Amino acid sequence: MCGIVGYVGPRDCSEVLVSALSKLEYRGYDSAGIAVFEDDKIKVAKSKGRLLDLVDKMKKEGRPCGHAGIGHTRWATHGEPSDVNSHPHSGKRVTLVHNGIIENYKEIKQFLIDNDRTFLSDTDTEVVAQLLDFYYDGNPIKTIHKVLREVRGSFALGIVFADHPGTVYATRCESPLIVGQGLGECFIASDVPAIIQYTKDYYLLEHDEIAVLKNGTVSFCDLHGRHIEKDLKTADWDPDSAEKGGYEHYMIKEIHEQPTSIKTTISPRIENGMPDLSECGITPQMLKGYRQIYIVACGTAMHAGMVGKYVIEKLARVPVIVDIASEFRYREPLINEDDLVIIISQSGETADSKAALELSKELGAKTLAIVNGKGSSIARAAEMVIYTHAGPEIAVASTKAYMVQISVMYLLAFEMAYANGKITEEECAKLTKSLMSTPDYIEKTIEDLIDDCQYISTKLITADSLMYIGRGLDYALSMEGSLKLKEISYIHSEAYAAGELKHGTISLITDGMPVIAVVTQNTLMEKTVSNIKEVKARGAMTIIVCDQYANIEGDVADYVIRVPQIDEILMPMVGIVPLQLLAYYTSVNRGNDVDKPRNLAKSVTVE
Ligand code: AGP
Repeated sequence: MCGIVGYVGPRDCSEVLVSALSKLEYRGYDSAGIAVFEDDKIKVAKSKGRLLDLVDKMKKEGRPCGHAGIGHTRWATHGEPSDVNSHPHSGKRVTLVHNGIIENYKEIKQFLIDNDRTFLSDTDTEVVAQLLDFYYDGNPIKTIHKVLREVRGSFALGIVFADHPGTVYATRCESPLIVGQGLGECFIASDVPAIIQYTKDYYLLEHDEIAVLKNGTVSFCDLHGRHIEKDLKTADWDPDSAEKGGYEHYMIKEIHEQPTSIKTTISPRIENGMPDLSECGITPQMLKGYRQIYIVACGTAMHAGMVGKYVIEKLARVPVIVDIASEFRYREPLINEDDLVIIISQSGETADSKAALELSKELGAKTLAIVNGKGSSIARAAEMVIYTHAGPEIAVASTKAYMVQISVMYLLAFEMAYANGKITEEECAKLTKSLMSTPDYIEKTIEDLIDDCQYISTKLITADSLMYIGRGLDYALSMEGSLKLKEISYIHSEAYAAGELKHGTISLITDGMPVIAVVTQNTLMEKTVSNIKEVKARGAMTIIVCDQYANIEGDVADYVIRVPQIDEILMPMVGIVPLQLLAYYTSVNRGNDVDKPRNLAKSVTVE
């Protein structure tokens, strides 16, 4: 879960590497480093801490000057964050950066120690650098091939050989890597945002392919050195979309981008007022007749799946099981060719979700991926793909990706329900129309609630712990609201099905403890309000999120946050907004690094 970059071209390489790494810090940010050919010698600069710490260090100690090199931003897996464990790592004639994990590094390390090699760091990466050096015979491709036959795991590597100045080699297995081609310059990167300010044209490097970047151009070969022709792709992202654009943090910018992201995602999938996924190659026939549906994902994406479960079951009347990818993959899931497995992922690179997809395919189930990362591993491996068009999501805390994931869940549920004959054409068109109107409501909700949420968050900042409660779709929202708050504010919180409280958890309620109750489902309102009264009677400070017309008695709530009333089934789309804003402002008010919360990384490409 790191970011790697590389550059060959006329620009100042250190500057390009630092700038590209700054767009990949979401992948990890506990140390950073670069290696650049300076006067035909590899010069390395690296430092524990954020990229800015590296920049400071280079200001004091000097930075490598040249036109070809590699860079890395790290999320530690093997060895604590420290200067010495930071990438790049070197053997005598080889220096490299690595994203991923080398599973058999211990055996290889022992083999190298037995052959008189010594190690500086605790990383698995240094083992690859030393092994390359051990086998190096002056032929980089041959040596990379030999090493790739011996290492096991997931990796994307950017490599420079001391006796090939000005050339960068790259290869990958499992971990993603793209190769950008600009005018007289070329790049490698773990993700498109890193290079988009320089070029929109890029190649997707496949497993066991090697890219050779030299004299500003790139060529590709297989492990035997045989030339490969590849298709150049063009990113449809605007370079500005990966910038903060005047906002203080990416997270708040991305919250504001939600209405546009929904429009861009759903518009191409609606024809004559009806959902139509043919643009994604999916016909109504492909969505019907399943025995059961599994939705498998991690974190926020899994919470989007929870919304999907309620909506698909309610409308299409097919049983839906939502599973955490890391659980699903190890418990021999009871699926077969009569089932559909839906994988949801923003990055499309999450290791557990990827493994769950592979397992589902092995077991014969049909697979459908809902993915934001274009050309990502999950998108490429699934039989059916619906891309969400959220653009780059940089903040570690996901907001707009969740929003587009649930908007796709709605479209899918409508089309499935109609295909299964569970709703009429008229009902389907009515629901689709309501969905199309949500971006305007969301925009209004953001504008109207910013001040309220900023104020109410000041009541949360000193809490040790809080609780989110709700029923049905509101429970699904509570789970997401709670995750959002804890990941960026570092305040402990739990999401609970409101009716389950009195079976144990109500004992946690103490005087003044904040309880955020989500009550957007009118059909369940009375029941949830009773549960709110129960916690209120035990001293809780209650914050209620409900629609604009909900009749909430004065003594039930300390604070009421009202969102527009839209079709009940679509209420999560407006209901999630205050939960995102509360989490955001609580984090800001506690002085946290909102976009880069401690211990986390955006793309979890390791188990
Ligand atoms: C949410 O705010 C998280 N950062 C996290 O839970 C994330 O949704 C999860 O890791 C899944 O990532 P993916 O969508 O890229 O697969």
